Amino acid sequence: MKKQFRYILTGILGLLLYTQAMQAQNTVTFRTDAPAQTINRNIYGHFAEHLGNCIYGGFYVGDTSHLPNTNGVRKDVIAALRKMKIPNLRWPGGCFADTYHWKDGIGPKEKRPAIVNTWWGNVTENNSFGTHDFLNMCEELGAEPYLSGNVGSGTVQELADWVQYANFRGTSPMSDLRKQNGRAEPWKVRFWGIGNEAWGCGGNMRPEYYADLYRKFTTFMNSEWKNERIFRIASGASDADYNWTETLMKNIPQHLLEGIALHHYSIISWEKKGDAVDFTEQQYFLTMKSALLIDSLISKHAAIMDKYDPQKKVALVVDEWGGWYNVEGGTNPGFLFQQNTMRDAMIAGATLNIFNNHADRLRMANLAQAINVLQSVILTKGDTMILTPTYYVMEMYNVHQEATLIPIDIHSNAYTLNNEQLPAVSVSASKDKNGVTHISLVNIDAHKTQEVTLDTRSQAYKSISGKILASAKLQDYNSFKKPDYIKPVDFKGATWKNNKVSVKLPPFSVVMLELK
Ligand code: AHR
Repeated sequence: MKKQFRYILTGILGLLLYTQAMQAQNTVTFRTDAPAQTINRNIYGHFAEHLGNCIYGGFYVGDTSHLPNTNGVRKDVIAALRKMKIPNLRWPGGCFADTYHWKDGIGPKEKRPAIVNTWWGNVTENNSFGTHDFLNMCEELGAEPYLSGNVGSGTVQELADWVQYANFRGTSPMSDLRKQNGRAEPWKVRFWGIGNEAWGCGGNMRPEYYADLYRKFTTFMNSEWKNERIFRIASGASDADYNWTETLMKNIPQHLLEGIALHHYSIISWEKKGDAVDFTEQQYFLTMKSALLIDSLISKHAAIMDKYDPQKKVALVVDEWGGWYNVEGGTNPGFLFQQNTMRDAMIAGATLNIFNNHADRLRMANLAQAINVLQSVILTKGDTMILTPTYYVMEMYNVHQEATLIPIDIHSNAYTLNNEQLPAVSVSASKDKNGVTHISLVNIDAHKTQEVTLDTRSQAYKSISGKILASAKLQDYNSFKKPDYIKPVDFKGATWKNNKVSVKLPPFSVVMLELK
């Protein structure tokens, strides 16, 4: 009897330990029931704003520069962005867009008027980088241009003229002017933003008023290619302003609308943004909390869109996102220049996983801003250029572009700090046109390695390889002195057995697995 009792006790204890171990395990399961969904490459888009040293000194140095350039654009920048597979680029703003009059930026450079950038540092710009410069640069990059039109201080005619200037092949006042300025063929610009942050810097409008203005502006934006409608993106909500999305969906007829924007920055608080490099774990945790919020923001805005557009014809476009901190000490406060650490790599990896998993409605996004501003992929200083941890995440993830999403179920352990919890692990997966499966995994936990068991169901693979981006400290970054301090390296922490992948994710790391 005594012996029997001991057996039962041992059994119960074993079961308890097993259950505990199971709970401590992160699990991911490929779902086989969900419809095949393509991850639109435009989710991986970027943003070039006339802000600080993004355009002037970042992309553009002018064709008389001693730096190797193509029509004034740095060759090293072009090569890096091509390698990253930049799919689209938004320009000229942001807040700047609603002050920008495109006709100031065409024709002979010496005749272009100088303007004051009232949003960003009140600096005078000579307009040497204008429509031709931007659209030709996009051709060099292999990226689709996304032009942000001026609704706040521009006119309906001005935006209609811009469309005609960029897109009309035949004879017309604007296409003739384009030809006179040296460009015979139209560029065929598909993506057009109708103002920016109309609720704020774009005009402080009410959504009802903006919806009416949107209807009016888009009515006159004619495209020459009647069968290939231009893609018009309404200035969207900030964060959880669901009323903005609802009002636009209700009041804008869908034959005038292809996309609706949403802006969300990963920010601790507007009053106390904290330093970009010198931050505490608590600040890191709060930044990640803000970053992960994008998941529910997308779900809730998408649910509103579903009511009016159940077939999901209108895309949700997160055309501004990224980490936002205090400017670097000693730099112009209006230029928003910040360094980029492993924290930013965590924001990028986790956000892109969320974007991929919302591929049905989220079909475009733009990280703010590409060079020398907020969460930049490139920083420049004189002749030198460095690639940030965010660049490497974007490069690692480019395998998801235009691949078929593999929906997943995920159970993640918690990353706990001061009694608050966040899911430690995020994952997204896709299969490309060659049948190769890619799985991106992020562990945001600042201290613990996370073990993940991934059940691929019936999928069988012959080989598994991977890359990892990690570093010793969350605060680590690439500097002009140590440009290669953080770089992806081969990852050996994944094994494959019986339809299951086991992965050991070090603290604050991003991993991309390739299964063939
Ligand atoms: O990215 C900086 C600014 O943030 C953009 O110009 C504006 O749209 C947003 O408020």
